[in-house]
Amino acid sequence: MSHLSLSGITKSFGGVHALRGVEFQLSERGSVHGLIGANGSGKSTLLGVLSGQLSPDAGTITLHGERVEFRDPAHALSHGIAMVSQESALAPHLSVAENILLGRRLSRSWWGIDWTSTHRRATEVLARLDLDLDPAIAVSRLRPDQRQMVEIARALSIETSVLILDEPTSSLSDDQVRSLFAAVRLLKGQGVSTVFVSHRLPELFELSDEITVLRDGLTVATGPTGAFDQTTLVDAMVGQAATRRRSGPPGRRGPTPGAAPLIEVQKASSDRAFTDVSLTVQAGEIVGLAGLTGAGRGELLESLFGARPFTGQVSLNGTSVTRARPEEAIAAGAAYLPPDRKTDGVVLQRSIVDNLLMVSTRDRRRLGAPRTADTALAATLAKRMSIKAPDLRSPVGSLSGGNQQKVAIGKWLGAGKTVLLLDEPTRGVDIAAKQEIHALLRDAAAQGTALLVSSSETDELLELCDRILVMHAGVIVADVAAAEATEPSITRLAGGHL
Ligand SMILES: Nc1ncnc2c1ncn2[C@@H]1O[C@H](COP(=O)(O)OP(=O)(O)O)[C@@H](O)[C@H]1O
Ligand SMILES: [Mg+2]
Repeated sequence: MSHLSLSGITKSFGGVHALRGVEFQLSERGSVHGLIGANGSGKSTLLGVLSGQLSPDAGTITLHGERVEFRDPAHALSHGIAMVSQESALAPHLSVAENILLGRRLSRSWWGIDWTSTHRRATEVLARLDLDLDPAIAVSRLRPDQRQMVEIARALSIETSVLILDEPTSSLSDDQVRSLFAAVRLLKGQGVSTVFVSHRLPELFELSDEITVLRDGLTVATGPTGAFDQTTLVDAMVGQAATRRRSGPPGRRGPTPGAAPLIEVQKASSDRAFTDVSLTVQAGEIVGLAGLTGAGRGELLESLFGARPFTGQVSLNGTSVTRARPEEAIAAGAAYLPPDRKTDGVVLQRSIVDNLLMVSTRDRRRLGAPRTADTALAATLAKRMSIKAPDLRSPVGSLSGGNQQKVAIGKWLGAGKTVLLLDEPTRGVDIAAKQEIHALLRDAAAQGTALLVSSSETDELLELCDRILVMHAGVIVADVAAAEATEPSITRLAGGHL
């Protein structure tokens, strides 16, 4: 008998049917269950129902053979079901120990706190996760991945039997994902089940015992992980039509023969971020930047775009850019996609048309292009990028993550830039949208654009790039052909083991 099962769950928000009769089961204690589906398929809503944040319109939840109805998250918690949310719910100025015990301490009076036992208890929970964190340190001083661990520790301090993680790895680098997975395995050994959402297939296969696939608010596949492979999963997720579209013409590989280098960097350094970096990227070439968090990948891209001071020589499209000014880089034909599209990549409140034309209209206005031509250009771009939106005048904020990202990339492609500097181009994006973004980038390369792409997902770099530069502690330590590299070999190099 399964120890937790949800059956016939439906949930609507106004006219949106987020869940339309979902079936979901955890087969036994300590099982790790991967939940997968395109952006908007209903994963977070399902987890909201499971954790008591949302009450379903219909359907039943059965726990250990008994029907339960969760009034609120605290009620679900009292049944051992805890959710670690995407948005951090920690109190930054309190210590790790205080945050961990916050949940249980709230039910006690503030003046009655026994600090010695608070710290002892926090240390015990941290040990269960094999975490080496000082319980006395303030949470504000931790990295995002460490904060997530503290949230998990907090969930465990309340005798959790089911831990829910909604996209826990979307902003973690490969090494941070390792330690999170190690913690999930430790908990599994202690009888704690984990339900997690991920868009990364390799980690889903690696970590989960069972998988459930949602599409348009319905369970379209569920079963032991061994019953799936990459193709059956993606087919279930996106449906047949999309799969056929995906297997279109194969992407081109490699730089255009005899092409000039469009990105040339000689001995570039920037304050503690990176040192003595030299590289070239040719027209038609896609070069990846691999490395752990803090290796200097992001800072290097910022410098090439003129958004961070550096010393050394940088030339884009044959134009030397010397000072740190984005205007110079843009004038030289460069575009930059920041890692966090919500704060820098798009203007969420503005329309899709406005966002797509943001960079190109200034030039076009100067050339006297009429407004109708602008709208036509936006429509062409949206079509080329298969941006799925009912109306191009709706705000970008109303789109799914994958489609927002396409707008963020599309605005540069429309402006005819020939040097693309991309930081985490598919972070938090579902697999179908990711494949579309990859196809677009290959397309841009085939038309003679030079691309430098930083990603914390090694498998993404292996799939997308011609060449991979591996950074470690601010230095490029290897330059390998993607065809000859493997995930373990890149991981080893990124860790500084040559
Ligand atoms: N609070 C809400 N109000 C209105 N619509 C919502 C709300 N939460 C989710 N939705 C809609 O429900 C659908 C499923 O969303 P969600 O569960 O967040 O999907 P996923 O997590 O798989 O990306 C989407 O169409 C989304 O726009
Ligand atoms: Mg979600």
